[in-house]
Amino acid sequence: MSAFGTVFAPEMSLARYEQGQWSATEFVNSDSIRLHPGAHVLHYSSTCFEGLKAFKHQDGSINIFRMEQNIARLAQSSELLSLPAVNAEQLKQMIIDIVKRYAADVPLPPGSMYIRPTHIGTEASIGKAAAPSSTSLLYVLLSPVGDYFTGGSKPLRLLLANETRCASHMGVVKSGGNYASALQPILKARQSVQADQVLFCPNGDVQETGAANFLLIDGNEIITKSLDSSFLHGITRHSILTLARDRGMTVSERALSVDELLERAQKTGAEAALSGTAAVLTPVGTLIHDNKEYTVGNGEAGPTTNALRQALNDIQWGKAPDTHGWLTKV
Ligand code: COI
Repeated sequence: MSAFGTVFAPEMSLARYEQGQWSATEFVNSDSIRLHPGAHVLHYSSTCFEGLKAFKHQDGSINIFRMEQNIARLAQSSELLSLPAVNAEQLKQMIIDIVKRYAADVPLPPGSMYIRPTHIGTEASIGKAAAPSSTSLLYVLLSPVGDYFTGGSKPLRLLLANETRCASHMGVVKSGGNYASALQPILKARQSVQADQVLFCPNGDVQETGAANFLLIDGNEIITKSLDSSFLHGITRHSILTLARDRGMTVSERALSVDELLERAQKTGAEAALSGTAAVLTPVGTLIHDNKEYTVGNGEAGPTTNALRQALNDIQWGKAPDTHGWLTKV
């Protein structure tokens, strides 16, 4: 299987915002946008994106998971980056139409079609460092994928870092700049302690990793940071918490300190996991802090993590009823 996100459908759906309005949607080759080298996005990072998936069910139908929530988040990211307002109805149709067009390429479970709506500021104006782009491009790329973490569901090693992933008021925005600013700490952590990811814990407050939200599971309780502007409001995070509540678990959305995390993670039966569209729910086996390694529970993928991942997959794959109405059949 090719590396996650390196294979693309031949075409994407695309719309342009010019002179105060959105163009009609077109299908264009996935490798074919033209940008002026002075485009706003290339200098002032006016870009945001989404990550959602379409699943092929046994009856052959194609189902998109939590599309409306992803569209709403892209609209919010666009607003916070002062990009033109997204037309949610048009974007919904753009996603449905391109997924329908490449329905035959949607892999069977455990694979899926990763959908990457992207919004970029295109105005050629390097003078606009403190002004928004008046034009933009919105496009929906498709990429058939398998697992994001190359070890599959192998428990991850996380380095706890006493720094922020990005500017604290921008964590809520799904923007390329946030991923860029997390990159150096992640590369250093890989090199120094063979960590898979960094868990950003500014001032000892457990926040999120570079590309996924963090959850601690202790017995019947699932603990994760409550929503604020400093980190990404994961749609998979929300789905997992909903499924945990369905199973009668106590969901504690609150501040979690590094001290409490390290203490509770070492308890027998403790589990930790990362949630995200790409990560799904990937177990965490080791936490590294101040040159010490802490094993989470017994270091293996725990039963609750496995059960919650399975419950999510069962809905996505059409093996369990979609009681929350999360799927859109295209
Ligand atoms: C996702 O989980 O969809 C993301 O956008 C994270 C990315 C690193 C693949």
